[in-house]
Amino acid sequence: MGSAVMPMSSRSGDPRSPAAVSAVGLHKSYDGKTVLDGIDLRIPAGSVFALLGPNGAGKTTAVRILSTLVAPDGGQAQVAGHDIVTSPDGVRAAIGVTGQFSAVDGLITGEENMLLMADLHHLPKREGRRVTAELLERFELVEAAKKPAQSYSGGMKRRLDIAMTLVGRPRIIFLDEPTTGLDPRSRNTMWGIIRELVTDGVTVFLTTQYLDEADHLADLVAVLDDGKIAAQGSPGELKRLISGGHVRLGFTDPVAYESAAATLRAATRDDEKLTLRVPSDGSQRELRSLLDRLDAAGIEADELAVHTPDLDDVFFALTGRANVPDQTNEPNEPSEDAR
Ligand SMILES: Nc1ncnc2c1ncn2[C@@H]1O[C@H](COP(=O)(O)OP(=O)(O)OP(=O)(O)O)[C@@H](O)[C@H]1O
Ligand SMILES: [Mg+2]
Repeated sequence: MGSAVMPMSSRSGDPRSPAAVSAVGLHKSYDGKTVLDGIDLRIPAGSVFALLGPNGAGKTTAVRILSTLVAPDGGQAQVAGHDIVTSPDGVRAAIGVTGQFSAVDGLITGEENMLLMADLHHLPKREGRRVTAELLERFELVEAAKKPAQSYSGGMKRRLDIAMTLVGRPRIIFLDEPTTGLDPRSRNTMWGIIRELVTDGVTVFLTTQYLDEADHLADLVAVLDDGKIAAQGSPGELKRLISGGHVRLGFTDPVAYESAAATLRAATRDDEKLTLRVPSDGSQRELRSLLDRLDAAGIEADELAVHTPDLDDVFFALTGRANVPDQTNEPNEPSEDAR
């Protein structure tokens, strides 16, 4: 499907800026199974890009390829102006990567983890200590700095992880699911950190399973589905791809659920939850007509919620599936307006 929506973004990241990351036809398979099936990307310098997709969609694979940790089977990509295959050292010098799983060594303190990174980047000792102190302060880790990192909370570890990535002053930073597993407050802190990076002129490539995260943070979003980019554009453009929101009707009585489904043929069923999703713009007129139809058929729903379009709807429209992140990690509040 056409995915060449290149927006004039209302946030940062002018599309006319030179590309920080560009890729054409990236392909990767493992054991004969295609994971990435021709990925094209253009990420303007100084913007936030979100690669969105469910578990196993290939997000980490894309990050690993662009950060030169694994080689693609096909296609080309430039990161910070360097070819990932012919000039991996040039790429590595310009980027920082915070992986999906922590690079923090739990046995040493947060400060020691930072100093170790400074050594890896060959910073002179004094400079290493200065950068470490500055980043610990900025990430609110001063108090914890002398404690073993294994005693940190998930949010603190994540902050330390990103602070470690920043020691090398990367111009482009890859964050693989920076907020998965964080509580809403830590998640907000992380969003603040990411916005601050962009203010400093850093380009951020992040992956996420959370559509609202992409909505809040990203200038440009790409939805990865089945190894392909199903759509890309600004969050606003993606939302405009679909006609509107929906009304969700919930039932406890399976019989009432079945008759409602028979009455409202345009509805999408969820037989497990006994809910129906009826396309609607949420206007008073459409709601009244929906309720009239239910009344006429003698059906009473136990729950009714109006949902204005968000990226979830986009995902649903593009893939025919709901985007269901790992429930145990779900920090989202329901975005529905219960009436
Ligand atoms: N080194 C590997 N060897 C074999 N298969 C792999 C390897 N790395 C990834 N895969 C497969 O590629 C597919 C995509 O994996 P990837 O880790 O990129 O997904 P993801 O979108 O990051 O998922 P998640 O949200 O769970 O992190 C999966 O089916 C995975 O099993
Ligand atoms: Mg992953």
